[in-house]
Amino acid sequence: MIRVALLGAGIGSEHLAAYRNLSDLFDVTMIVDQDAGRAEDLRKFDTYAVETDLDAAFKNRAIDLIDICLPPHLHVPVTLQALASGKHVICEKPLATSLSDVALIKEASDACGKHVFPVFQYRWGPSLAQLRSLIEAGLTGRPQVAALETHWSRSADYYAVPWRGTWSGEQGGAVLGHAIHNHDLMTHFMGPVQSVSAMTSTRVNPIETEDCAAICFQMNNGALCTSSITLGAAKDETRIRLVFEELTATSASEPYAPGAAPWVFLARDPDKQAKIDAFLTSLPVEPVGFEGFLCACADMLAGRENKAVTLDEGAASVELVTAIYDAARSGQRVSLPLYETHPLFKGWQP
Ligand SMILES: NC(=O)c1ccc[n+]([C@@H]2O[C@H](COP(=O)([O-])OP(=O)(O)OC[C@H]3O[C@@H](n4cnc5c(N)ncnc54)[C@H](O)[C@@H]3O)[C@@H](O)[C@H]2O)c1
Repeated sequence: MIRVALLGAGIGSEHLAAYRNLSDLFDVTMIVDQDAGRAEDLRKFDTYAVETDLDAAFKNRAIDLIDICLPPHLHVPVTLQALASGKHVICEKPLATSLSDVALIKEASDACGKHVFPVFQYRWGPSLAQLRSLIEAGLTGRPQVAALETHWSRSADYYAVPWRGTWSGEQGGAVLGHAIHNHDLMTHFMGPVQSVSAMTSTRVNPIETEDCAAICFQMNNGALCTSSITLGAAKDETRIRLVFEELTATSASEPYAPGAAPWVFLARDPDKQAKIDAFLTSLPVEPVGFEGFLCACADMLAGRENKAVTLDEGAASVELVTAIYDAARSGQRVSLPLYETHPLFKGWQP
């Protein structure tokens, strides 16, 4: 049983719902939120203690894992404090907003031997499990191109929370806060990014950070991917099309759990469609979203299976955001990896 302190009762409520469904693996013993009422309001039949000071989680020796669902500017200092107090960490996106901070987290995690799991729960869902299995079975061929649309809607009420839409609080716009999940899916299925060109713009709300972007990626394996992002769509929709040599995978339009709704897997050679369809019906069902993400963390901590999101994958996502902001500001195509000498290595805040 992994004893958890959940920090932050916003999206933390969805983490809590997943923990409740995994009560044989996790016990949420404490929720910390400076707004105690918000933490208390989540209670159903739970027995967790409510605290308002983060120190309560760090100092409690019974806690194994600290799950950080706080605003972005707190992710790095709280991750470092949690590691220093000997806890494993789950950290909501973005893990960090500079490569120098990622390096600090890696150093601290290596030094104390505790895991840091960056949250990318979109990876878990039946359709994405199907795609992963098709790739593993050699039925897709090599990645060729991908098109991602993160077309969501955000209005003044969303930006009423003071940290949102600002460089100091949210520390980025739609590239960092919204499309980061779909970019993680892109690299998860299409491979690591070699270079990026990008344009960003603020066209929807009167905020400091960007709310629209158009981005092109060349992957290490030669595949070409594009990402179109807006927070001014008529409604929240995500569309993902991943084209492989032998198969095209097309998502539905579910925005927050793209793997939950059925995808279409179309063989390029019609004679191979029956084999694909038969393969897909034979696969076991896996848990969706936060539940799938948390199961993978528990498996990793117990030494069972290694399907959890790794610190290196979280680091890669921060590197990609850095490259996108650099490409958008400079108008240049930016090649990865980025080193300490890169001008945005210590952060992209203007
Ligand atoms: N994975 C996802 O799909 C997903 C979805 C939404 C948000 N998020 C991420 O989760 C994080 C939190 O977002 P949110 O929407 O829940 O924000 P929120 O503002 O709704 O909730 C954050 C909570 O943290 C509490 N808090 C802030 N500072 C604190 C402190 N010093 N001590 C104790 N409590 C403190 C606040 O009172 C608040 O209840 C962000 O990084 C966001 O990007 C991820």
